[in-house]
Amino acid sequence: MFSVKDRNFIVTGASGVLGTAISVALAKSGANLAILGRSEQKLKDTLERINSFGGNHHAFACDVLKAEELSKINVDILSQFPTIDGLINVAGGAAKGASTKAEFLYPDTPLQDSFFGINLSDFQQTSDLNFMGTVIPAKVFGEAMARQQFGNIINISSMGAILPLSKSPAYSAGKAAVNNFTQWLAVHLSKSNIRVNAIAPGFILTEQNRFLLFDEKTGELTPRGKRIVAHTPLGKLGNPDDLISTIFWLLSEHSSFITGATIPVDGGFSAYNGI
Ligand SMILES: NC(=O)c1ccc[n+]([C@@H]2O[C@H](COP(=O)([O-])OP(=O)(O)OC[C@H]3O[C@@H](n4cnc5c(N)ncnc54)[C@H](O)[C@@H]3O)[C@@H](O)[C@H]2O)c1
Repeated sequence: MFSVKDRNFIVTGASGVLGTAISVALAKSGANLAILGRSEQKLKDTLERINSFGGNHHAFACDVLKAEELSKINVDILSQFPTIDGLINVAGGAAKGASTKAEFLYPDTPLQDSFFGINLSDFQQTSDLNFMGTVIPAKVFGEAMARQQFGNIINISSMGAILPLSKSPAYSAGKAAVNNFTQWLAVHLSKSNIRVNAIAPGFILTEQNRFLLFDEKTGELTPRGKRIVAHTPLGKLGNPDDLISTIFWLLSEHSSFITGATIPVDGGFSAYNGI
């Protein structure tokens, strides 16, 4: 019912934790993939894993903010895949200097730790990565979908898009722009049989953030982990499979009446204000 067998997908950010998990799940189910990421070595590792399931897969190290690089890659992809069934924009993240050290600016908070100490170039890089890093691949790779008159674009957003994450203004604003752009593009492409949706994951436990959420020695939740779980009505953290099942659904005909939506996969986090 949710078959992706023999369909062709492009996944950006495929060398990262979630991008790898998504790519492996799609390849395991018989899809052909063009995977993009910044780290050549990590991409090679992902390519090796997905090749073990068979299929026709290709890896491209690139910067999603460079349209010219993507255009060249697009030519390669189109020489391999006669049609493009979907694009999954996973690339994203935050540069350290784009976050504030302090959550609140009290009279005695050093200004350096507040918004006024933020590094503007890191701020721009982070908002660009999340926003333009979605817009540019959609423009470059979406054109083939417009020509073939079908396709499916899924953008990975964040809870920060709905309510800004404390200390992370650039990331949150970049993801908010992703949600808005998802709606705009969905309407714009609605007469071309192309659906555009986003997924806003809540707190997904990955190997990368495990140390922030669980105490290595005791295995107990850290104070931050406890705060997150306490604010999540379902009382747990998410795992990559929670996202993957939503992606399969959005890629399938079972979501054929859904476009322009941002689906929270967050255990109820965004529905709960704690009062
Ligand atoms: N992990 C979570 O809990 C969580 C929650 C909400 C949203 N997200 C979003 O999910 C996505 C993946 O997150 P992750 O946890 O796997 O992060 P990650 O850091 O492991 O992966 C990020 C990926 O983006 C790629 N990337 C970064 N800048 C790039 C650039 N300029 N050009 C090309 N590729 C670039 C990296 O190479 C990497 O493959 C991100 O968009 C993130 O914002 C993650």
